[in-house]
Order: sequence, then C-alpha cells, then structure tokens
Amino acid sequence: MSDSEDDAPTLSAHTLAALQEFYNETRSGLDHSTTSASDQFAVGAVQEDWRMSQFWYSDDTAAQLAEEVVREAGEGGRIACVSAPSVYQKLKQGIVEGSDRVSAVVLEFDRRFAAYGSDFIFYDYSEPLSLPASVAPQSFDIVLADPPYLSEECLSKVAQTIKYLSKGKVLLCTGAIMENLAKELLDLKVCSFLPKHNRNLSNEFRCFVNYPSHLLRS
Ligand SMILES: C[S@@+](CC[C@H](N)C(=O)[O-])C[C@H]1O[C@@H](n2cnc3c(N)ncnc32)[C@H](O)[C@@H]1O
Repeated sequence: MSDSEDDAPTLSAHTLAALQEFYNETRSGLDHSTTSASDQFAVGAVQEDWRMSQFWYSDDTAAQLAEEVVREAGEGGRIACVSAPSVYQKLKQGIVEGSDRVSAVVLEFDRRFAAYGSDFIFYDYSEPLSLPASVAPQSFDIVLADPPYLSEECLSKVAQTIKYLSKGKVLLCTGAIMENLAKELLDLKVCSFLPKHNRNLSNEFRCFVNYPSHLLRS
C-alpha cells in the first residue's frame, strides 16, 4: 500500500458540513439552530466540565438565587454573577419575575459562555483584578459568586474581585468549611437556605450574605 496523498481518505461535502456544524456547536456549547431563546439560557445548556470544577445548581436553586438577586438589586439594578453561570442563565430565561428590569453579566473562565455576547466577561480568579476597563469599580448592586475551589487562596482572590465589583451586597455560595474565612474576608453570615446541585456533591454547600436576606431564614 502506498502512502501518497492520493490514498488519503476523503470526506464528502455533506460530511464536512456536518463536521463543521458539530465543531461550531462544541466550541460554544450551544446549538443555536435547534433551540429556542429560552433553551439557550437553560441551566445545563452548556454541559458541566469537571476539569473546570463545574457543578451546576438544580433548576430550583438557580431560580431561587436569581429571584434573590433581582429582589436585592432593585429596579434597574446591576447584577454580577462571578463563576456562577447558572444564575446568569436563569436571569436571562425570562421566567423570573422582575428579571427584565435588571441587567446581568457573567464573569467566567469557561469561554463557551462567550456565546452570551457582551454579557460575558472573561475571568480568571488567579488574576482577580484583571478585568476590562469597561468594568467600573463598585458598579454592581449585588455580586453573587461561587468560586471554583475550596481553598484559602481561591476565596481570598475571589474576595478581591467581589470587593472591586460590589456597591455593597454580596451573596457567596461555597462549601460550609469556608465559613470562617468568608466571615473574615467579607463579613458574611451563613444562610439557612441550602443550595442544591444537579449532582450530589460530597462537600456540604452553603450560601453566605452580608445583608438582611430572606435566605438567612428560608
Ligand atoms: C463550583 S462551579 C460554580 C457554578 C455554579 N454552581 C453554577 O451552577 O453556576 C465553579 C465555576 O468556576 C468556574 N471556573 C473554573 N476555573 C476558574 C478560574 N480559573 N477562574 C474563575 N472561574 C473559574 C467554572 O467554570 C464554574 O462555572
């Protein structure tokens, strides 16, 4: 058998077109051709990738957190979802009351979320203040964050980002073991509300706030 270029396998135009479509979808994680606007913002529209410590909230938890940030941001308020794309998605699905009267951005390391256009801000917690010039300091009415790792280094850096972004209100979702550090860094109190995920996590998870939230009692 010769190994000349003539012997190289070839693909039909149809197969090539199908492959290109598959490649485009894999890059964004979203299939714009077959899903409605609401589906494109569904929690899970971008599949979890455990290499990036991705564990999506249950639909119900994402909705409850979205309702909370809408309530706390107020009319015309600005919401930053830091490493918490499910809450951003829930805000954009058009099903949370009042979500059309706020604006939201998602700060994320996973570039598949760039499919959400100018609402996407690339974010790597290891460079906590490397943000575009368009992101003004203290310009968000509430910042919700769910850091990728349960470590002092990660939470300390994410706390720097939160302090830069927030006008005051902070809602942090992370492991219960981070309670003391969350108090020390951001003066956060643990909520009785228990966030749930689509898959069972081995770590106990909690929400923490620095304002008089419904979640402290629910
Ligand atoms: C524990 S998950 C939180 C997701 C949240 N439970 C949700 O459903 O939206 C951590 C998030 O951090 C993001 N992430 C991973 N590496 C990161 C990095 N270096 N800097 C900032 N965020 C990162 C992941 O893409 C993921 O969205």
